[in-house]
Amino acid sequence: MKPKKGAQDTMANSTLKEQTDQRIREHIETRYADGKVVRKLSQHYRREGYVKLQGLVPDDLFQEVSQEVHRLLDEHGQRIDIHLKETGNTPRYMTTISQQAIAKGSELIPAVYESRALMDFLSRLASQPVLECPWDEEKYIAIRQHKKGDTHGWHWGDFSFTVIWIIEAPDAKYGGQLQCVPHTDWDKNDPQVEEYLVEHPIKTYGHVTGDLYFLRSDTTLHRTIPLNADHTRIILNTCWGSESDQKKEATHETMNAMFD
Ligand SMILES: [Fe+2]
Repeated sequence: MKPKKGAQDTMANSTLKEQTDQRIREHIETRYADGKVVRKLSQHYRREGYVKLQGLVPDDLFQEVSQEVHRLLDEHGQRIDIHLKETGNTPRYMTTISQQAIAKGSELIPAVYESRALMDFLSRLASQPVLECPWDEEKYIAIRQHKKGDTHGWHWGDFSFTVIWIIEAPDAKYGGQLQCVPHTDWDKNDPQVEEYLVEHPIKTYGHVTGDLYFLRSDTTLHRTIPLNADHTRIILNTCWGSESDQKKEATHETMNAMFD
């Protein structure tokens, strides 16, 4: 008896999931074979709330993910131009694709997200378990900025661990760089963004197409510098939780406003 259509899909998905995990596992074992290098990356991450991870995944896998993101943006991108009070009325001017649209339209991105090998390696960098995000809708989302003034204004994430995939970066002179203030806390009723910016140094990080970085998203105040001309910056945002994220009662005001 032939398996039903749904069952066939599930079998194909589990194969893709296993293959993707295997590709990432073999790559990481070679790329990060030196324990001293990994320890340095971990220390940088814990000190700065940020570490760049060029070559975290195989180049061909990055290319495949990149094609998926471009296709999904064309099919499902939604423009937003809003300010959010929970982060001190900072702006979000961008095109977004929700987690649900990605989950429906892509098998590869969920397979990458669920890779055990990837989560295990990120756990080594974080020095604590990196677990699937307890809220599905923040697991993976994509963003395109392309108009002069487009920006992801100062904010924190609801969950601890984020990997950003730089699918397309504009030339440095057009803006779009990441800025960070690590070791800060998000009080949604009184975010005090300006106070943090005055009190602590702001680090600025430039990226090129193909870069990845790991961000401590819940305790690093961060933004992208507004584009100063009509040029394109596209990212895939993949987000995981900590053990304490699994227990806390999180609310999702900013995500709901951006991805409804
Ligand atoms: Fe963010």
